[in-house]
Order: sequence, then structure tokens, then C-alpha cells
Amino acid sequence: MSEQVACLVSDLEPGAALQAELTLADGSDVPVAVVRSDDGDFYAIGDVCTHGEVSLSEGEVNGCEIECWAHGGRFDIRTGAATELPAMDPVTAYPVRVDGERVLVDVDAPMMSKENA
Ligand code: FES
Repeated sequence: MSEQVACLVSDLEPGAALQAELTLADGSDVPVAVVRSDDGDFYAIGDVCTHGEVSLSEGEVNGCEIECWAHGGRFDIRTGAATELPAMDPVTAYPVRVDGERVLVDVDAPMMSKENA
């Protein structure tokens, strides 16, 4: 697998998120939170909070962070880094490319950062 259509640009207002079920090269499904920052850019991170089995796409977007609705843990949507307790471990961040109206995510090429290397 390479890039997959996660959603359309018109599906997400700035400051919003949605869940997309994408497929890894091995055929397994991976839930991804597609997040649009307040300034309109698109990002994709693993949708499951690392503190509990909670969907991050149901959380609140503030700037370049998304807050887990369960206990207030926060993640940087650009890197997946945990930025607020009780979340401590990062979620995976994935490359996103906008092609016209399509928002493309490559779940087989997770971005490595110092936080999630
Ligand atoms: S489940 Fe997300 S912060 Fe607790």
C-alpha cells in the first residue's frame, strides 16, 4: 500500500478531526485521526490514545494539538508527541498530501521523530 484517500478536503473544517480506517500493506486495518489544524493544514496520527482505548478524533483540536476527551491528554498533530499528561507515549504520525480535493495518507511510511523513534 502507499497513499490512500482518507477523506476529502471539504469533509473537515479547520479545527476539526475525523476517523479514517486505512489499510496497511499487510492487509490489517489501522484507525487514523485526520486532523485539520486551526490554520487549515491537514495532519494524520494514530487514532487510539496511548493512555486508553479512546478515539482521539473525537477530541478537541486546539492549534496544532488534539486533546483526548477522556482525561485531557494532548498530542502534537504534527509529530504525534504526547504534550500533556496523563498521555506519555506518542501516537504514530503519518505523512499527508492534499491532491486537489483528496486528502491522502500513507500509513506504511510513518514519520519518525525523536519522540517516536
Ligand atoms: S484515554 Fe486519552 S488521556 Fe486517558
